[in-house]
Amino acid sequence: MPLPTPRSAFRNGDARLRTALAARRNGGPPLAVRAARASVARVRRAVDHAVARSPQSLFLRELVTQPGTVGAICASSPRLAARMAAWVDAAAPGVVVELGGGTGVITAALLARGVAPERLVVIEQSAALAAHLRRRFPHIHVVHGDAAELARLAAGADWPCRGADGAPLPVQCIVSGLPLLSIPLPVRQRILQAGAQALAPGGRLLQFTYAMRGPSLWQGAGLVGQARERVLANLPPARIDVLGHGAAAH
Ligand SMILES: C[S@@+](CC[C@H](N)C(=O)[O-])C[C@H]1O[C@@H](n2cnc3c(N)ncnc32)[C@H](O)[C@@H]1O
Repeated sequence: MPLPTPRSAFRNGDARLRTALAARRNGGPPLAVRAARASVARVRRAVDHAVARSPQSLFLRELVTQPGTVGAICASSPRLAARMAAWVDAAAPGVVVELGGGTGVITAALLARGVAPERLVVIEQSAALAAHLRRRFPHIHVVHGDAAELARLAAGADWPCRGADGAPLPVQCIVSGLPLLSIPLPVRQRILQAGAQALAPGGRLLQFTYAMRGPSLWQGAGLVGQARERVLANLPPARIDVLGHGAAAH
C-alpha cells in the first residue's frame, strides 16, 4: 500500500499534519524538524519508563551523564554491601549517614543490619537517584545534596534526626560509597574535611575503594585507620577501610 503523502494525508483529515503545514506556512520549523523532535521526545519517554522500572538502568544512565561522580561501572554487590553494613553497630546511639546512596544497595544492607530507618540519613547528589531512594525507602531520610556539605547539614536547622531536646543527634557512623578517586581534588578535599568534622568522637567511618593497596584518603583528613577487609565478590574487587578519630577501642 502506498504511504500517504503529506498532501493526501491532509486531504484525509490528519489533524496533526494540518497543524504542521499551517505552522510551516506561518514560518514555523519544517515538517522534518518537527517529526525529528517528536521522535526524540518519544525515545526520551521510553528511556524514562525503562529507567523507572530498573534501578540498574537508572545507575547506567547516571554513569553516562555524570561519569566522574558515579565512578563505578555498576552498583556494589550485595556481598560488599553486607560486609560494609557488618561494621555498623546498629544499637549505638546517634545517626548513621550514608554518603552517595546510588540505587540503594548499601542502604538496604544497613536496614537489614538493624539500623532504624528514622536514624538513617542518605546524602545523594543525583536528583534522579535521590528520588529513586525516596521511593524505594519511604521511611529513611534522603537528602538530595553534596556530601561536602555534611558538617554544615548535620549541625543545621534542617537536619532530620534530633534528640528530645531538639539538638541534632551526633553522627556515630558514616558509610561512604563515594568514588573518592574519581572526584576532582578540590571537591574531594571538602568532602574529607566535612566527613571528619561531622563524625562524632568515638564514631566510625567506613569507605570502600577499588584501590587494594595504600592508605585511605580519609587519613589525609586526620582520621585513623582501624581495620580493613577485602571483598573479592564485587566487580571490581574492593577494600573496606574502617576509620575513626583514634585507634579502635578493644
Ligand atoms: C559508586 S556510586 C555508589 C552507589 C552505591 N552506594 C553503591 O555502592 O552501589 C557513587 C554514588 O555517589 C554519588 N555521589 C558522587 N559524588 C557525590 C557527592 N559529592 N555527594 C553526594 N553523593 C555523591 C553518585 O551520584 C553515586 O550515586
